[in-house]
Amino acid sequence: MRTPRRRRDPTTVVEATRAGYHVVLRVAAALSLGCAALAALLFRSGPSPVTPHTDVGARRRAAHQHVRTSGAHGAPNVRSTVKAARFSRFGGPEVLEIVSLPDPHPGPGQVRIVVHAAGVNATEWKLRKGVVSFGAELPQTTGRDVAGVVDELGEGVTDVAVGDRVFGVSDDGAGAAELALLTFRAVIPPTLGFVDAAGLPCALETATRTLDQLDVAPGTTLLVNGATGGVGSAAVQLAVARGARVIGVAGPANQGYLRSLGAEPVTYGDGMVEQVRALAPDGVDAALDVAGSGVLPQLIELAGGSHSVLTVADFEGSTEYGVRFSNGFVDGNAFHALAEVGELIEAGRFWLPVERTFPLAEIGEAHRISENGHVRGRLVLVVNQGPSPVSAAG
Ligand SMILES: NC(=O)c1ccc[n+]([C@@H]2O[C@H](COP(=O)([O-])OP(=O)(O)OC[C@H]3O[C@@H](n4cnc5c(N)ncnc54)[C@H](OP(=O)(O)O)[C@@H]3O)[C@@H](O)[C@H]2O)c1
Repeated sequence: MRTPRRRRDPTTVVEATRAGYHVVLRVAAALSLGCAALAALLFRSGPSPVTPHTDVGARRRAAHQHVRTSGAHGAPNVRSTVKAARFSRFGGPEVLEIVSLPDPHPGPGQVRIVVHAAGVNATEWKLRKGVVSFGAELPQTTGRDVAGVVDELGEGVTDVAVGDRVFGVSDDGAGAAELALLTFRAVIPPTLGFVDAAGLPCALETATRTLDQLDVAPGTTLLVNGATGGVGSAAVQLAVARGARVIGVAGPANQGYLRSLGAEPVTYGDGMVEQVRALAPDGVDAALDVAGSGVLPQLIELAGGSHSVLTVADFEGSTEYGVRFSNGFVDGNAFHALAEVGELIEAGRFWLPVERTFPLAEIGEAHRISENGHVRGRLVLVVNQGPSPVSAAG
């Protein structure tokens, strides 16, 4: 068995450049609309935030009342700003800075939320380092997973109202900020706080999409490599909820945690295949690679062929071994998972632990820990505690 290694995500600028410019464009476009759902929706001018009301109808009407400060000729002369994390060059966590940006306003179908908490997932540091490209130019904002309170509605929005607690994916990859725009969102399950909800969106979407692609159903024996991170923890629990038997691959310190999720744990490294064989002598029905740790040949062997293996993290290996690489742009996102998970959460059958929280100003430390590659569940930034983060700037 090859020594498992942490591979650079193969959908990188460097590797894609080697493969040809057309691959850069294809991968960038695909990733740009993958789990992160970067819909290239730009900040727009529009209504200012409103005070929440209790009545839903009143809240919706209030959301469309504009408060605008105008100059002598009717043009706005005061702009509002919000704090947001951004980087102006690719590099280590030190390139992240907190800046003031114009407050965003929702377009059709979007809502704006006051961000209470924002998840930090592996994609964030890859974008910051420039090893994954969404095609965006520098400077870039950062952050996809968010949870907060709706404070402004775009045209045509009827599913939520101002004042609702929602979680979702920041449309323009600017979730590590005081305000964010969301197209894909759901109401936060009643028993869940903002911090716990902020870790969920991308993990839920990716896990649901990949389990569907692998046809995971009652009776399936599924092997998950990288079973204890954000996506892995979600995939294990959602598969168990579908009635599957799950064998999870993780480090020695996470064996008990995997059991608590409902999986049968094995450790990565030498002997992984033998450990799985001891649990499933005939092999597994399907294997999901979330870690991208260079074990696709072993997963193919255990699943009886490359057709039963899927990876979200090993693009290079997927082409080398004929394994499907899943991303939301090509395969279709599974954002319906956000609304569906509430039932499991309320029944106590799903949770995604938050390993640690950070204030927005310490986003660099969160990136550093994420990049180290051994987060259990998610890291979360705590952004706003109060109702309105918008401040006036001349
Ligand atoms: N293509 C897509 O649509 C898509 C969408 C979302 C994410 N992704 C990718 O999916 C990957 C996972 O994302 P994430 O946010 O869930 O990451 P994450 O939370 O940072 O994953 C950390 C986990 O990886 C585990 N791990 C580290 N080395 C391992 C190894 N050699 N073998 C098995 N597990 C290992 C760690 O377990 P231990 O602590 O036990 O070592 C840790 O629990 C990333 O590469 C991300 O870019 C792809």
